[in-house]
Amino acid sequence: MKIFITRQIPEVGITKLKAAGHAVIVAGTEPLEHADLIARLKEESPDAVIALLTDKIDAAVFDATPNAKIFANYAVGFDNIDLKAAKDRGITITNTPEVLTEAVAEHTAALIMAAGRRLVEADAFLRAGEYRSWDPLLLLGMEFKGKTLGIVGCGRIGRRLAEIMHHGFGMDIAYFDRKPDSSLESALGARYAAEIDELLSTSDVVSVHLPLTDETRHLFNQERFSKMKPGSIFVNTARGAIVDEKALAAALRDGTLSVAALDVFENEPAVDSDLLALKNVVLTPHIASATREARDQMSLVAADNMIAVLDGRPALNPVS
Ligand code: GLV
Ligand code: GLV
Repeated sequence: MKIFITRQIPEVGITKLKAAGHAVIVAGTEPLEHADLIARLKEESPDAVIALLTDKIDAAVFDATPNAKIFANYAVGFDNIDLKAAKDRGITITNTPEVLTEAVAEHTAALIMAAGRRLVEADAFLRAGEYRSWDPLLLLGMEFKGKTLGIVGCGRIGRRLAEIMHHGFGMDIAYFDRKPDSSLESALGARYAAEIDELLSTSDVVSVHLPLTDETRHLFNQERFSKMKPGSIFVNTARGAIVDEKALAAALRDGTLSVAALDVFENEPAVDSDLLALKNVVLTPHIASATREARDQMSLVAADNMIAVLDGRPALNPVS
């Protein structure tokens, strides 16, 4: 069958698809504009599509692919896909969970370290020739041991981050989620917060691990930031639109937050000008899952889902 991939992904999955007897078309190395994507899909009429999180997959895209049985999203998040439009047309949607949990949790830990110990600011300071003498008061940051890490959304990634920061740095863990998970309490002594504001007011570091939905869009607004502990650190590796970036910049300017670290932005690849103007923000370009291991595995998981569905078997990682 014919498989269309909207942009180059690691070769392992493509090799596997070809070995299973499928024809694979890779659109190219640059993202396609929505209209161009639709035009290419009409031209190729694929049986299956591997899409990226930068592709908006909506009713118009599905209507351009009447033969497609499956769209495999090369990501764990799937807010770029109109699931209802897919369901109405009987198209299976899959994602790539689990294989990127470690990579994202490790990058989040790196961002927490970078924020708390002011690594980016310190590097810029040194390169600017400002390091003249060792100074007892130079670039002081946060010591993590015994501080509280508040995790908003404790799924696979949040949980792995909790393990790393508890076992590695001796942080106390608190978490907010729809319901408590007794295994987190027994394994990590984690404390469940039934109210998000209570979690925010008692955490020294807050890290977001929620999907983007109608309920989580701009969850972190001016009111939420005002509930955070003065001098705390805010980290987001989930989805940019969960945060009101203007409100975040204001909280960083007025000292509610000491530092923020962000891997995701509301209007990627654009970054809000207020955030760019601040020194106390660490910014990375949506690379939390960018380890060779995770990206190869994501390629294989997308391929395995395609092969299953094109063979008439159930998808391995369906989302609904
Ligand atoms: C990355 O953001 C993903 O959802 O996989
Ligand atoms: C995503 O894989 C999550 O459950 O955190």
